[in-house]
Formats: sequence, structure tokens, C-alpha cells
Amino acid sequence: MSNSVLVVGGAGYIGSHTCKALKAAGFLPVVVDNLSEGHEWAVKFGPLERGEAGDATFMTEVIRKHKPVGLIHFAANAYVGESVANPRKYIQNNVVAMHNLLSVCIDENLNNVIFSSSCATYGVPTQVPLDEEHTQLPISPYGDSKLIGEKMLHWYSNAHPLRYVALRYFNASGADADGEIGEVHDPETHLVPLVIQAALGIRPSISVFGTDYPTPDGTCQRDYIHVTDLGTAHVAALRYLIEGGASTRINLGSGKPISVKEVIDEAARVIGREVPVVYGPRREGDPPGLYANPLKAKEVLGWESKHSSLENILTTAYQWELRRKELGI
Ligand code: UFG
Repeated sequence: MSNSVLVVGGAGYIGSHTCKALKAAGFLPVVVDNLSEGHEWAVKFGPLERGEAGDATFMTEVIRKHKPVGLIHFAANAYVGESVANPRKYIQNNVVAMHNLLSVCIDENLNNVIFSSSCATYGVPTQVPLDEEHTQLPISPYGDSKLIGEKMLHWYSNAHPLRYVALRYFNASGADADGEIGEVHDPETHLVPLVIQAALGIRPSISVFGTDYPTPDGTCQRDYIHVTDLGTAHVAALRYLIEGGASTRINLGSGKPISVKEVIDEAARVIGREVPVVYGPRREGDPPGLYANPLKAKEVLGWESKHSSLENILTTAYQWELRRKELGI
């Protein structure tokens, strides 16, 4: 059996950490990326095939060349706000390109597919923690594009030999403990790197979006999951499919709600500096609390988060911020 795995979007944040986990588990991650948002420096654990995930001719060639045992599909745009302003980009890149990619998988008999889905597919929760049976009613084109991805997988796998695991990430955060790879987004919109950059003086301050939520300290609660834990979850999902597991959808979270204020306070403690904070209004579309029931991941994949304490997330993210400066990226 081949040990190659196609990692589409493998030059991105979660994709590159998954490549590291795949390599450590004995697989060869073959990255497919157009480098529109991914980074060539992040491709360190296997070869790069540069091209478009939605280009059927290119993808057919790549599959025939590498004969992979499975495919992990990360390539997508993932800015909620941008998706509201430019929904066509999200339908084109997250839906149309994914349909083309899945069609090639079906035609080429590449039948083990792992898909990056999101807790954004749930919309505004009616109850937390969220389990996988919670209604899916997205409130953004981004969330809808991920839900359509799940639906395509459902119907295509119903009609063809393809099997899939859709992994619904909560808030990916932290960085590789060895400092080889980490988070670099342009623009950066995620709380953890913004808080660290504010503590280091790279940004003047961090704006807290809303202090009047019905949570213990009034700021939003999220489920921060370390990107290294996400990497090992993809390896577990791949093994599950290789061993013949049935198609399924699984939350990847730590199960712990953490508020914006807790992130800021812990960052100040870990870094040993005050974080300049500006308290602002709510950001449109932010639900007060979003956190996972992670039990299904344990039952089906035997996976649990191991690196997702807030302290470890902030320590590795902080170290990565320093490393980035050294590397000039
Ligand atoms: N926040 C601030 N200030 C900031 C940035 C964020 O207070 O400058 C708050 C947000 O209001 C939210 C929390 O910090 O309460 C986390 O915000 P992020 O932007 O880091 O992450 P989101 O929870 O908005 O987004 C994440 C993923 C998306 C995914 C979404 C699903 O990054 O890809 O969860 O809800 F779609």
C-alpha cells in the first residue's frame, strides 16, 4: 500500500501542522497548494505540487503520479466577514472547486477523503456544548460553503465507493512546539495571535469585541484547540478510513469554554507583560458561547486533545511570534 497522502491546502496553517503529524506517523504528505494563502516555507515534510484543487486535469495527473492512499482537503477561504462581503469567492473556491476535486477523486478511485469543516456550520447554537447532532443553520456564506461541502460528501458517498470524515474544527490556535511552523495570516483576524502581537507591541492594542454577553465575565467564550492536536486528529481519521470506517462527521474541540478576557489575562501571565486592551462593541455575527462536546472524536477515532491547555496554546503561539521575527516571515 502507498504511504502517500494528498494534502490539498497543505501549505496553510492547519494543513502544515497536519503534514508534520502525517510524516511522524509514517505517511508521506504530498502538498497540493496554489500558494494563494499558503506559504512555500511551510511545506517541509514532503513534496509540493503547485496548482489548483479545482483543476480536474492537474488533480488527475497528481493522483496518477503519487497514487495516494487518501486525500485531506484543507484548501478554502476562511474569513467569515469577507465571505459576507464577497460570497461569490466562497462559492467558487469552497464549493465549485471542491465539487471538481471530489469528482476527480471518484473518477480516479481515491476513496478516503477527509474534509476540513467548521463549527461555523452550526450557526448560532441553541445549546452548548455542541454535539454533532445539533442543527446546522450557518449564518455566513463561509459557514454555508462548509455545510455544502459536507452535503456534497454525503450524497457523493451515497452514490459512489467514496468514504469521508468531515472534521468540524472549533478555534484552531497555537503553533508547533519545535518552532518549525506556525500561524501566518494576512490579514490576521484571530484572537490569539492578535493578543500576543499587542503584548509584544507589534500592534498598539487588542480590541475586545463586546463586554455585555451573557457569559461569566461578559466576553465571548470559544473552544480553543491546539493545531498540533488537530494534526493528530487527521492522522486518526485517515487510519479510521483506511481500516474501512464508515463516513462520519466529528467535532474537533477541547470541550472547554474560554472567554476573550481569559485569553488576554493568560497571555499577560505567560509573556510577563501587560496587554493593552480597548473595549469595543460586539462584532456582528459572534455567538456568545461556542464550544464542543468532543466525545464522538474519542469514541470513533480514539482521539483526545492533549496540547490544548490555554497556557500551552499561548506559550507556543508566543514562541512562534518570536521565531517569525527571526525568520523574517
Ligand atoms: N475577538 C476579539 N477581538 C479581536 C478578534 C476576536 O474580541 O480582535 C473575539 C471574537 O469576538 C470571538 C473570539 O475573540 O469571540 C474569537 O474570535 P476569532 O476571530 O479568533 O475566531 P472566531 O471564533 O470568530 O472564528 C473561528 C474560526 C473561523 C470559524 C469560526 C466559527 O477562525 O474560521 O470560528 O464560528 F468560521
